[in-house]
Amino acid sequence: MIPYSKQSITDKDIDEVVRVLKSDFLTQGPCVPQFEKALEDKFGVQHAVVCSSGTAALHLAYAGLGVGPGSIGVVPAITFSATANAFLYLGAEIRFCDVDQSTGLICCDSLEHLLKSIKHHSDLKSVVVSPVSFAGATAPLDQVYEIAQKYGIQVVEDASHSPGSYCETDRHLIKSATCEFSEAACLSFHPVKHICCGEGGAVLTNRDDIANSVRSLRSHGIERPYDENHESPWFYQQNELGWNYRLTDLQAALGRSQLAGLDAQLSKRRRLATRYDHALSHPPFTLLLDRPLISSGHAWHLYIIRFKEKGLRDRAHKFLKEKGIITQVHYVPVHKHPYYEKRIGSISLPGAEKFYESCLSIPMFPALTDQDQNQVVNELRAFCESG
Ligand SMILES: Cc1ncc(COP(=O)(O)O)c(C=O)c1O
Repeated sequence: MIPYSKQSITDKDIDEVVRVLKSDFLTQGPCVPQFEKALEDKFGVQHAVVCSSGTAALHLAYAGLGVGPGSIGVVPAITFSATANAFLYLGAEIRFCDVDQSTGLICCDSLEHLLKSIKHHSDLKSVVVSPVSFAGATAPLDQVYEIAQKYGIQVVEDASHSPGSYCETDRHLIKSATCEFSEAACLSFHPVKHICCGEGGAVLTNRDDIANSVRSLRSHGIERPYDENHESPWFYQQNELGWNYRLTDLQAALGRSQLAGLDAQLSKRRRLATRYDHALSHPPFTLLLDRPLISSGHAWHLYIIRFKEKGLRDRAHKFLKEKGIITQVHYVPVHKHPYYEKRIGSISLPGAEKFYESCLSIPMFPALTDQDQNQVVNELRAFCESG
C-alpha cells in the first residue's frame, strides 16, 4: 500500500526523543524553548510559541489578537475545518471567502467583496482574515495584507501546509510563515506535515503583545512573575482563562530535530513534484486539467491533480485504491459541512466547489521512492487509458 502521505523519522530523531525520555523533564523542560529558538531563527521571526496542535495554534493566535464575541473570522472555503473552528471556539462569527478555482488559494476579489459587505456597527469588535498557504503554495499574502490594511482588519496566515514555501511577485518576495504580511502565522506538526511532532503546532509573530498573550493562554493564563532569586520564587497567579495547550519536551525534541531536516525534506518533495510534472504532462493524461503556473518555491505538502469532469475523480480514487494506492481529497469546502450549513445556511462559492469536484491528492512525501512514484504514474496512466 502506498499512502498519500507519511512522516519521515530519522535515527537522529529517535535518539533525540530517547535522550529526553532518560532526562528529568518529559514536559516543561529545556527542549521547548530550544525548539522555539530554532523556529525563530529558521523563519526570522521575533517569537515562536509552540503548542499542542495546529488547531491550538490557531485558537491561541486568534485569542492573542483579541478575537471574541462580536468578532468576525474570514476563512477561505478550501481548507481544513480547524482554520474556521478556532474562530468559533472564541465566540466569533465566521464568513467564508471563495478561492481561485485553479489553485484553491484565497481569491482577493472575493475577499474584498466580502469585506465591503460587512456592515460596521457598534457591536462589531474586530475582523480577522486567515489566508491559507494551501497544499504548500504561498497564499497571496501581500495582496491580502494590502486589502486588510485598507479595511482595518488583521491577518493570521495558516501556514500549516507551507513552512519553507515562497513565491515572487512583481513587487515582493513572499515567504510563508515569516509574518512580513501578517500579524501571526500558525504551523501544524501533525505527522503528514513537513515537521512532525506526533501532534503539535506553533504561533509565529513579530508582535510582543501577541506572543505574551499566546504564552500565557497556552498554560491556563497563569504567569510566574518572579525568578529564583526572589523571596517567593514559587509564586504564580492566574490572570485570565487559558488552556493546557503545552507541547511536551518529547515532542519538542522531535520537532527540533525534524526542523533541522526541513530543507532536505523540501528538496526531496520538490524533486518528486518535478518528476510528477514531467510524467503527467504528456498524453494519455488528457483527463487531467492543465496545471496553473507553479512557483519553484512551492513546499509540496500535497501534490494535487485535477480532473476535467465531475465523477472522474471519484472513479480514479477507487481505481487507485484497488491497486494499493491511497489518494485523498483536500478539501470538502468548509461551508458545505452539515455543521456549517446549519450554522450559516446554504451558500454558493463557485471557485471552491469547482476545485473540490475535481481535485485529488496523490502520494507525496519525502520517503516516496522513485519506484513507488512510477507505480502511481503507471496506474494513473492505466486509469486515463481506460477512462
Ligand atoms: C490548513 C490546516 N490548518 C490547520 C490544521 C490543524 O492542524 P492540527 O491537525 O495540527 O490541529 C490542519 C491540519 O490538517 C490544516 O491542514
